[in-house]
Amino acid sequence: MTSQELRQSFLDFFESKHHRIVPSAPVIPHGDPTLLFTNAGMNQFKEVFLGTGTRDYTRAADTQKCIRVSGKHNDLEEVGRDTYHHTFFEMLGNWSFGDYYKKEAILWAWELLTEIWKMPKNRLWVTVYKSDDEAMELWKTVTDIDHSHILKFAEKDNFWEMGETGPCGPCSEIHVDLTRDGNAPASLVNAGNPELIEIWNLVFIQNNRIPGGELEMLPSKHVDTGMGFERACAVLEAMRTNFQRPPSNYDTDVFLPLLSKIAVLAGKKYTAGTTETDIAMRVIADHIRALTFAIADGAIPSNEGRGYVLRRILRRAARFGRTLELREPFLFKLVDTLVATMSHVFPEIKEHQQHIERAIHGEEEGFNKTLDRGLILFEQAVVNLHDSTTFPGDVAFKLYDTFGFPLDLTQLLCTERGLAVDTDRFDVLMKEQKKLSQESGGTAEYPTAGKFLIPATVTTDSEFTGYTQLETEASVIGMAGDYIILDRTPFYAESGGQVGDTGEIIVNGMTVPVRDTVKDHNIVGHFVPVSDMNAAAREMLQTLPAHATAKVDAARRLSIMRNHSATHLLHAGLRTVLGTHVHQSGSLVSPNHLRFDFAHFAKVSDDEMRAVEDYVNEIIASKIPLQHHYAIPFADAQKMGALMFFGDKYGERVNVVQFGDISKEFCGGTHVLNTGDIGYFKMRSEGSSASGVRRIEALTGTNALEYLSLQNKTYRERIEHAYTLVDEIQSMQKLLPADSLLAQEDTTGLDIEMRKLEQIPDAPSEVLTLEVGLEFAAQRQRFRELENFMLLLMEKKKGFEKECAKVKFSSAATDFETLVHTAATVGSIRVVASKMDAGDIETLKTLGDALRSTLGSGVGVLAAVIDMKVQLVCVVTDDLIKTKNFSAGKIVGAVAKTLGGGGGGKNHMATAGGKDVGKLDEALANVIEIVKGMI
Ligand code: ALA
Repeated sequence: MTSQELRQSFLDFFESKHHRIVPSAPVIPHGDPTLLFTNAGMNQFKEVFLGTGTRDYTRAADTQKCIRVSGKHNDLEEVGRDTYHHTFFEMLGNWSFGDYYKKEAILWAWELLTEIWKMPKNRLWVTVYKSDDEAMELWKTVTDIDHSHILKFAEKDNFWEMGETGPCGPCSEIHVDLTRDGNAPASLVNAGNPELIEIWNLVFIQNNRIPGGELEMLPSKHVDTGMGFERACAVLEAMRTNFQRPPSNYDTDVFLPLLSKIAVLAGKKYTAGTTETDIAMRVIADHIRALTFAIADGAIPSNEGRGYVLRRILRRAARFGRTLELREPFLFKLVDTLVATMSHVFPEIKEHQQHIERAIHGEEEGFNKTLDRGLILFEQAVVNLHDSTTFPGDVAFKLYDTFGFPLDLTQLLCTERGLAVDTDRFDVLMKEQKKLSQESGGTAEYPTAGKFLIPATVTTDSEFTGYTQLETEASVIGMAGDYIILDRTPFYAESGGQVGDTGEIIVNGMTVPVRDTVKDHNIVGHFVPVSDMNAAAREMLQTLPAHATAKVDAARRLSIMRNHSATHLLHAGLRTVLGTHVHQSGSLVSPNHLRFDFAHFAKVSDDEMRAVEDYVNEIIASKIPLQHHYAIPFADAQKMGALMFFGDKYGERVNVVQFGDISKEFCGGTHVLNTGDIGYFKMRSEGSSASGVRRIEALTGTNALEYLSLQNKTYRERIEHAYTLVDEIQSMQKLLPADSLLAQEDTTGLDIEMRKLEQIPDAPSEVLTLEVGLEFAAQRQRFRELENFMLLLMEKKKGFEKECAKVKFSSAATDFETLVHTAATVGSIRVVASKMDAGDIETLKTLGDALRSTLGSGVGVLAAVIDMKVQLVCVVTDDLIKTKNFSAGKIVGAVAKTLGGGGGGKNHMATAGGKDVGKLDEALANVIEIVKGMI
């Protein structure tokens, strides 16, 4: 049986037992911070076991790509030295979600191994958890295993856990005796002997390990099994040769093509033994699989997290390459062999082949360069040790920091010389460095909210209305410190790179500003620092549930939506201009700009940048409407060919954002309704963010236009412009009441910043000499700093303008008292009709709101002349809507007629416009008659 046949036979067997055959999850886990890599078949079902997720089937089977090189399950050091541990392997598994339990799991495992695959029964051993008499009994009664081959073990071997926390339970393992004669003693079981290996683990999931270490019972019982595919292949191979050769996973068609290719590249033979050459070849054959699959699923060697683990794997492989005298990059040449043998099962490695090869090649090249120089430093340090056997942590750190030696590489080199690394010192230096880098990069661009604790009373997910609404009537259902929780909300909570919305929540006429929005699971927290609220608002929020109006800052959200949609178009543009290997590896979508990280191995040239920019602007000009597919089944989205972002977690149902044929992406974010709404797209910078990852920053809409006009100014002019902005901000600040947050902001820092930037002379218009050229380049940096500073000032100014406008409303609101008291009445109905001073329609509406809460019982019509046109807002109090069927929409429509215009809206508030500014007084005078006519 070939490995391919074996895999298929496993899946067919469980399909015949009514299991749904599902695809492998990516080897990069989506959205589980407790895992760096997928380490077991059950990872994708974790939520089903915990009772927080569901599937539309109760039995499943698959082959899952796994990597075990970190955390609880870490086999790295064994790999290559033995013949049956791997960094990457396939796990064949079958699952029951609250369906069958121990009996069927045991029965079917036995049936597959002994009847279908015909493994000799006398060579099989099983282990059960020490107190699991039930499993013990089942093995005896539902199978015909030799009873003396059933052994009990404690937690270490027979209680399986996925990590520090998560679903777990007692397990029963099946081991195979691969000795020549097949009469291994019981003592070989679980003894780490290559001649008696575990091949299948049946886990009876019934517990959850919670943070802190306690075990909880789960609501239902489940089965989770995992068989080592490569080991199963080795067992079948051993059966074929009648157990006459030492067993090895590497002597199967899974690894032999890779080993042959390595042998050809090195000009050496693989002898399946324990020579340094054999070990090196096994290490390389193993590691290239982990690298290829991890990169195909979106990881990339780097300095951090999983990227760092990959870097270590790659460097371990490259160093073993040196044992084979392979000095030039060679690992990347093995990808092709792997693609040839495995892409029929996992097409993603073929799809991303070029990208994988480039990533590996680039990393090997970089490593080779430093390896040689690092080795010299290492040898010098060894000489300096004289008689000591402790290798200094400082040198190990320097090797790590400057020469890219992973600690385990230095340790390996030391072990070969009988030395030990001072890892304590190394750790201290590592920590210091981490702290430094956090401090230097730690100034958050946007003040953001942290985490909040979901109150116990809030148990249902928040309903998100913000795809279609910016204002929603809702109930406050919980408070958690500085966070308000609503049952439904138009506020987008930070996720997928898109920043959280800001705006305001109005409860009983009182407005509290929302500074940021975050979510925990699916519960949205509106960040309203308690210090921003007055005592009355705080008091009021104690009585829940309270009715609330949630209003997103519309202008800011529009900027965000422009940037988010532009991010998708940029992605499409990059794939068109640079190639489809480009895929997103991160992004930030804020109101000010967008940042897009993507895998690509060269600098994006100026010509390419221009081509991408033109592409995006072309699509903007083509005005392509948004097609937003909400909550469609995951499989349908995949069928549409929508692009996925690797770092994201996808549930059973997903949203897809589509712009015609140009762009289809899995995306939960908010978008403009038409590409035309983006206005204009302009890139601000291109650079490298990590090895093999480029970063583009870009602007849209008014930000892009402001940037363009800025670019046409000289350094001097820009400085002057910046000073004007600083002045404007500071004078607006003086208008604000003392308790406003912005009034308290320290804007003197802006002056200091300006003075720093002013030190730089104007850039020469022509570059004449090398020296001037260098100076000019240095100034370019300052140009960029200044530009960024200007953008910050512009954004700040917008904030101040808004705050000042609000102050205006509230002083107007006090005038309403007078207005209402002197209002005309129709019966008991108060009728206010008045001109207002308002700069835009939003302001006018806010005034309308304020009037409505002061009116008691009545009708109000407010008018303002904005941009040479009359704008009207009409408000009606609730009692009149109920008892008299009044409608603000109808009233405002009637008023607008006089002005040669029209409008409409809801019963409680409506707006209208008209051109005839000269007839405004007449129109307002008509209001009384109109109201009379409605009774
Ligand atoms: N989840 C179990 C394992 O990984 C089957 O061994």
